[in-house]
Amino acid sequence: MALAAARARVLRALSPPHPLGQVLVAARRRCSEAGAPGALPPGGYRAWQEQAARDPAGFWADLARGWLRWDSPFHTACQPGRPAGTARWFLGGRLNVSVNCLDQHVEKSPNRVALIWERDEPDTAVHVTYRELLDLTCRLANTLKKYGIQKGDKVAIYMPVSPLSVASMLACARIGAVHSVVFAGFSAESLAGRIVDSGCKAVITYNQGVRGGRIIELKRTVDEAVKNCPSIKHVFVAQRTDNKVQMGDCDIPLEEEMTKAASVCTPESMDSEDMLFMLYTSGSTGKPKGIVHTQAGYLLYAALTHKYVFDYQQGDVFGCVADIGWITGHSYVVYGPLCNGATSVLFESTPLYPDPGRYWEVVQRLKINQFYAAPTAIRLLLNYGEEWVKKYDRSSLKTLGSVGEPINKEAWQWFYQVVGEGRCTLVDTWWQTETGGICIAPRPSEEKAEIVPAMAMRPFFGIVPVLMDENGKVIEGNDVSGALCIAQPWPGMARTIYGDHQRFVDVYFRAYPGYYFTGDGAYRTKQGYYQITGRTDDVINISGHRLGTAEIEDAMADHPEVPETAVIGYPHKIKGEGAFAFVVLKEQVAHVDRVKEELKTIVASKIAKYAVPDHILVVKRLPKTRSGKIMRRLLRKVVTEQSNNMGDVTTLDDPSVVKEILDAYQKYKEKSSS
Ligand code: WTA
Repeated sequence: MALAAARARVLRALSPPHPLGQVLVAARRRCSEAGAPGALPPGGYRAWQEQAARDPAGFWADLARGWLRWDSPFHTACQPGRPAGTARWFLGGRLNVSVNCLDQHVEKSPNRVALIWERDEPDTAVHVTYRELLDLTCRLANTLKKYGIQKGDKVAIYMPVSPLSVASMLACARIGAVHSVVFAGFSAESLAGRIVDSGCKAVITYNQGVRGGRIIELKRTVDEAVKNCPSIKHVFVAQRTDNKVQMGDCDIPLEEEMTKAASVCTPESMDSEDMLFMLYTSGSTGKPKGIVHTQAGYLLYAALTHKYVFDYQQGDVFGCVADIGWITGHSYVVYGPLCNGATSVLFESTPLYPDPGRYWEVVQRLKINQFYAAPTAIRLLLNYGEEWVKKYDRSSLKTLGSVGEPINKEAWQWFYQVVGEGRCTLVDTWWQTETGGICIAPRPSEEKAEIVPAMAMRPFFGIVPVLMDENGKVIEGNDVSGALCIAQPWPGMARTIYGDHQRFVDVYFRAYPGYYFTGDGAYRTKQGYYQITGRTDDVINISGHRLGTAEIEDAMADHPEVPETAVIGYPHKIKGEGAFAFVVLKEQVAHVDRVKEELKTIVASKIAKYAVPDHILVVKRLPKTRSGKIMRRLLRKVVTEQSNNMGDVTTLDDPSVVKEILDAYQKYKEKSSS
């Protein structure tokens, strides 16, 4: 019933119909330009959205047939799973993702540029054609095979963006190995934790990385990590700089091996539901979890959203500045653009290097058509003023995109007016590691439909959002807020958490049986648009990087003089959110400042630098309920200075703790501002 109502609402929420003929012509034109004839049913956005909501299996089956190259066709488009809300897609079908991303384009246009590697050093971009990328991928694949990597084996990739890191991902896909890319800013301990959890047999890395003019010792971090990883047999080391690094017994110079390897590698024919990759992400409790995506459904969803959210047209240069260590890099630097035969930019640098004009200088030089970035970078840049933007020609830009965290109105307006000169489409895209691709975004839509600033607005084809109240009931109507769930499976959704399917079920499908629970809250406006209001759990988002506060607490718990901590997210002007830690020290601790510095070092070395709390406040005790649960809600009120509105504190073990913490916070604030 609820699903039917939700579907009906999606249909009602569609903007008023267009004159059909006009939409039809436009839609057909778009399809043929995308090189995927007949892949979408005629009728334009409204018709597609209707069909996707009414007959998801039929809708996705048509798309999968038209959009992907199959070795053998699937017999069942969608098989509902257990628990309800999960599903498996395109059963019986076989294909290879690297063939879809490379070979099919090489056959038609081998010299089309696949990647433009915008290296850290300005104006040293490297262009890689589809033919060259296929060559790199096959050589890399053959090298992996030579060292015993087989179908189903797990391979960690600890590299910043580069053609070789993209080739590493595709090489795994080619031979049926499963990649686990670990963001190259994570510490040795984080890397080791992920390698152990997934049982990786090999790591691919660089001798060093280069970012913002600084050298990053990647190989050294890998060395430290693999000491504690018995599953690792080989470390493949590519050269990003000329500096020599120590090579041990299991280290293999990657490029040297690739030169010797054959440039042809027969692709492994994979089942639609075989694992393509896992990517670790944070939850509200426990260690980061390895989110698993499979072959066909993920690829199809990444490619379609890339095409329709950004209005990608053949020949466009697509500039997503995310790192491949995050899902945005997987879906919109690598798989989506390459499946569509696009030219994808790999941005190795930072928005401030060598100066705050870097993004726009790159847009001008590479003639970027779609530019996709995180709000944190936009907030940072707007502080430097418009001159840095206006210095460069941005007339190539057509679509701007924002991802990973809420974009505030000021940043949205600046991005739209100053960067996009008020003439580009700006899409605020909401999605998650688990969703595989964009789920809510202002486009696609009816042509020229309105875009409300700083709002994700419209569900993508086949996405049926619902809002839930505290009792687990679907909230009907508009102008309402609730927990954001998705009522109907779609091909891009994650299939499991690696090694812990029960956790997958518990985290995503237990709170609202039959629905995928996102962990976010949302508001449905009077017009029926969606606005994301933020996480409803203990996950925070620092500069667009997702992190569980429990992970920071666990790291700090290693300090022998700190028996208890509680970490919360607080609003940060540039980063979106920052971490604020409340810590209890053992009584005899005299050197409080030293302990605080040690805590910061511990967090950096156990997780990553970005996870280090901006503030550490020592308190005598934490606010706890009678059953011993820390009431983080109260700590949030203290830090956001809403102490006059503490809500219900009757369940506190000792309510006098509130005043104690408020006083400590007040003193801390006075000290920091003096
Ligand atoms: C948040 C990143 C507001 C959200 C692609 C989600 C957003 C988490 C938006 C997923 C947006 C992502 N507006 N919040 N447009 N996009 N988020 O897995 O809280 O790194 O649950 O995926 O980021 O982060 P993840």
